[in-house]
Amino acid sequence: MLKTLGTIAAVAALTGTLAYWTGQQPVYAAPRAGADDSTPDAQSVAGAKVYHTKCSVCHGENRQGHPPKIPSLVGIGSRLTNQQITATIHNGKGGMPAFAKLDDPDLSALIHYLTTTK
Ligand code: HEC
Repeated sequence: MLKTLGTIAAVAALTGTLAYWTGQQPVYAAPRAGADDSTPDAQSVAGAKVYHTKCSVCHGENRQGHPPKIPSLVGIGSRLTNQQITATIHNGKGGMPAFAKLDDPDLSALIHYLTTTK
């Protein structure tokens, strides 16, 4: 058994197979895993652009709003349905102007951004 392992190790070392294998693994695996964890999806990026163009002037850079006059939009997806958010955007509400012409793909990207990112 030990003799067999020794033989395999010797052959691997001689041919450079072992060094090649262990050396190559991290090079291909590491950058992919990192990118998947930290890169926001394309729709969130598009939605954030719409938000910062049309909404952040009132609701703030971080969606905190200015309570009590301007409500926070943080976690809005757990308080309102997508339909209710869309209705508020299209019709306006109280001190909020209507964005009647805001439609797909900008609208769905914006809703996606508001309801899936922190
Ligand atoms: C001119 C300032 C202003 C702008 C610009 C603005 N809002 Fe508002 N928004 C308000 C105010 C004020 C309210 C509270 C309305 C009320 O309840 O009387 C509000 C309410 C809301 C609500 C309902 C929140 C809740 O808790 O009921 C949502 C959702 C919302 N805004 C989303 C948006 C989005 C998305 C945009 C960009 C397309 C936007 N707002 C742009 C001022 C603004």
